[in-house]
Amino acid sequence: KHVAVLMGGWSSERQVSLWSGAACAKALEGEGYRVTPIDVGRDLAEVLAKVKPDVCFNALHGRFGEDGTVQGLLEIMGIPYTHSGVLASSLAMHKERAKTVMAAAGVSVPRGKVVTRLEAAASHVLTPPYVLKPVDGGSSVGVLIVNEDHAHPPQELTRGDWEHGELLLAENFVAGKELTCAVLNGEALEVIEIVPGDAWYDFDAKYAKGGSQHVLPAKISPFVYQEVRKLALAAHHALGCRGVSRADFRFDDREGGTGELVCLEVNTQPGMTETSLVPELAAYAGIGFGELVRWLVEDASL
Ligand code: DAL
Ligand code: MG
Repeated sequence: KHVAVLMGGWSSERQVSLWSGAACAKALEGEGYRVTPIDVGRDLAEVLAKVKPDVCFNALHGRFGEDGTVQGLLEIMGIPYTHSGVLASSLAMHKERAKTVMAAAGVSVPRGKVVTRLEAAASHVLTPPYVLKPVDGGSSVGVLIVNEDHAHPPQELTRGDWEHGELLLAENFVAGKELTCAVLNGEALEVIEIVPGDAWYDFDAKYAKGGSQHVLPAKISPFVYQEVRKLALAAHHALGCRGVSRADFRFDDREGGTGELVCLEVNTQPGMTETSLVPELAAYAGIGFGELVRWLVEDASL
């Protein structure tokens, strides 16, 4: 099979996608596929018409790669592709719409609202502590945490060169643990607790070696552990995801805390870098990186 690995693009997660794409291309070659890596630009349709792959391996993250648009192009061109289809990708990328769908399926989500960045800069839109994030971003790019020490909302939001979009999701900050679980081939994998080396799981903690510690299996009660797996699966199905997805949670396990477990989002194009969570969860289940990318290619469809 001839596999085109789509990577790069021009979203805020371009660099992460280049890392994911390079790792996947190498692994696919190791599995014996003929591989053509493509750094995606606006001429993608022309490039694909020349390359004529049997399958596209989608290693893109963020806008134009994870939001249903590239999936729509591949549908029109009749090229089978990995991961989720148009609707699930588009829904999951919009964190607020995704929350509505997940909540309807019984998956608890943090309370919050969508605001413009100028509203968020003018006055506190929620009572601190709260989180402001681009409504359709990823990898923590453009995420701001406003805590009790902040008398005023973050002023970088007013900057002329703010490049993370006009709409932000403001959400109550859920203190406690960061947990993640992936769904692969219709089944929930195990649960990882992420302990960031720094204050929270930001871009550096995600991608620098040793930037965070992963506890696998997460040290939480068996009940909560199974609950995370159940909710990851419910969210995957509610959004209509395909292939693999990863659901991120926060769990307030502090003494005297609320005990709430909320799903922050579902990633339809989870990171596939060396420090990424899905490859780690798959490996723990006995599925090596090569086998994982092979499975995704063989599962690809229109
Ligand atoms: N958005 C990054 C790639 C992730 O969810 O893994
Ligand atoms: Mg994400």
